[in-house]
Amino acid sequence: MTMVYYRSTMWDYTKKVKELFLKPKNVGEIENPDAVGEVGSMICGDALRLTLKIDKETNKIRDAKFQTFGCASAIASSSALTELIKGKTLDEALKITNQDIAKYLGGLPKEKMHCSVMGTEALEDAIVNFRGEKKPEAEEKIVCECFEVSEEKIRKVAIENHLTTVEEITNYTKAGGGCGSCIPVIEAILRDIWFVKPITEKPTRPKKLTNLQKIALIQDVIEKEIRPRLQADGGDIELIDIEGNKVVIGLRGMCVGCLMGDVTVKGIEDKLKELVSEDITVEVG
Ligand code: FES
Repeated sequence: MTMVYYRSTMWDYTKKVKELFLKPKNVGEIENPDAVGEVGSMICGDALRLTLKIDKETNKIRDAKFQTFGCASAIASSSALTELIKGKTLDEALKITNQDIAKYLGGLPKEKMHCSVMGTEALEDAIVNFRGEKKPEAEEKIVCECFEVSEEKIRKVAIENHLTTVEEITNYTKAGGGCGSCIPVIEAILRDIWFVKPITEKPTRPKKLTNLQKIALIQDVIEKEIRPRLQADGGDIELIDIEGNKVVIGLRGMCVGCLMGDVTVKGIEDKLKELVSEDITVEVG
């Protein structure tokens, strides 16, 4: 892979970015590498190939080298990544985030954050390959055809970096930065992450309810608010009965016999008090 350097003057790069762009560390390819990670494509404008030498006894990264095709920040980010991972175990290396790479560089222009993401992706790819955990490509749903960006990547990057706008997604992944036809899908993904999940607009408790309305609302709150949270921890809930303001439930899955069972029941009661009626009590049947 040929190294291509573009002009670095149009962006406000930090001293560290300029330093690693002009004198990048760990450029090249390790002979007989234990792990290889590749991301991006030259057609899309950025590509990175990472080769690693791994100590099989300790699982530590003994050496790391990179070849990249891209701008100054892609070169500096790749160089920073190799410096950050050398000497670390594979598990420690996997904890390095794109924000760690940007921090090592003293920051990156927001439009160039995708270079730091590319670094962590190449590392993950190398480790997944080394461990033989590679997923079949068919499992990935491509959202942005122009830059071959999957839904999984958009979700991961959005959550890890708290991204809420399409513009930010484009800065971090390039998705949406070409023909723009994927923008409605990216918007839908962002709505799903930030508006359907925990950070929803807070529902308010209705002032007055008939018995039937109350029963329907209790069922609704259990289905939409309580059950997904319990299921996320391997548990579940069964609604057994509703007698006036007394809600009788059964805890299921991992919730059965859990030492925190009382706390869980109290949490369920609090949520129903908050969203249905202050008079609600919850009992395990
Ligand atoms: S499909 Fe995403 S920008 Fe073209």
